[in-house]
Amino acid sequence: MRHLLGLKNMSAAELQSLLDTALAFREIVDRPVKKVPTLRGKAVITLFYENSTRTRTSFEMAAKIMSAEAINIAVGQSSVAKGESLKDTLQTLQSLRADCIVIRHPMSGSAEFAANILHIPVINAGDGRHEHPTQGLLDMLTIRQAKGDLSGLVVSIVGDITHSRVARSNIWGLTAMGASVRLVGPPTLMPADAEKLPVTVHSNLLEGLEGADVVNVLRLQTERQEAGLLPSLREYSRLFGINHKSLACAKPDVLVLHPGPMNRGVEISSEVADGKYGLHSAMEEQVTNGIAVRMAALYTLMGANIPPVVDA
Ligand code: NCD
Repeated sequence: MRHLLGLKNMSAAELQSLLDTALAFREIVDRPVKKVPTLRGKAVITLFYENSTRTRTSFEMAAKIMSAEAINIAVGQSSVAKGESLKDTLQTLQSLRADCIVIRHPMSGSAEFAANILHIPVINAGDGRHEHPTQGLLDMLTIRQAKGDLSGLVVSIVGDITHSRVARSNIWGLTAMGASVRLVGPPTLMPADAEKLPVTVHSNLLEGLEGADVVNVLRLQTERQEAGLLPSLREYSRLFGINHKSLACAKPDVLVLHPGPMNRGVEISSEVADGKYGLHSAMEEQVTNGIAVRMAALYTLMGANIPPVVDA
């Protein structure tokens, strides 16, 4: 593996190996002293053209736990603000001797563009509505921890599918591992090519949740939506909001995921988000698993010939 650009076309064996590596690293994340020398001397640069809290911070923590240097480019304070192109910016970071670039950009295909011009590994931290592979992997790891084998599980992804890179990475990763994926949402937020995807499509929430093992709730990606797709947020929440009543259709031990950031009271009720009524909401676990998955990605791309777990 030279880059991590998406989960599409990855084999079950490749996905399994990344998840196993992440599980081994999760033990280091939970140590009181979280530091191993695995990637000492390497430099990871995070280049984020879009806002981020979890993803950028967890890449930085992942690099630092493995003793790599982690440098963040604040795009607003960089030469990007003086009009520098993406290509020139990437080449400059490579000349600065970055060993790996982690990129988030609003254009679908931007991570692949970076991989084509650089000779160092590139990790896609979200490119437009295309893919967000480390989010897909951390969702899969969280499901695996709660439910065991992914194969045979029914996972309902609910909300703004069209604009969601998280949905796409989930679809490719989960179906490669043998899970059944349902896309649930209003037809205006369903991709035009949904019937070509390995999923079933549901415009009725309760039908889409019926018997589900896992519900992955998406934010309305208003930054990528054109106007007029929804009558109102209230209407959306009434028809597609995940609350303890709508979840009654799913399996009694349903696991609820959300990639964050959450808009409480819109796509998800606070009761569900906070795990009331005995519901199992895994958002905090997802965030912590995000560090382990990003350690696995950095290690796989930069340190594959170094032993993974080294005593602190
Ligand atoms: C997601 C993203 O940026 O694609 N967030 C994340 O990485 N945790 C989902 C979102 O923004 O709604």
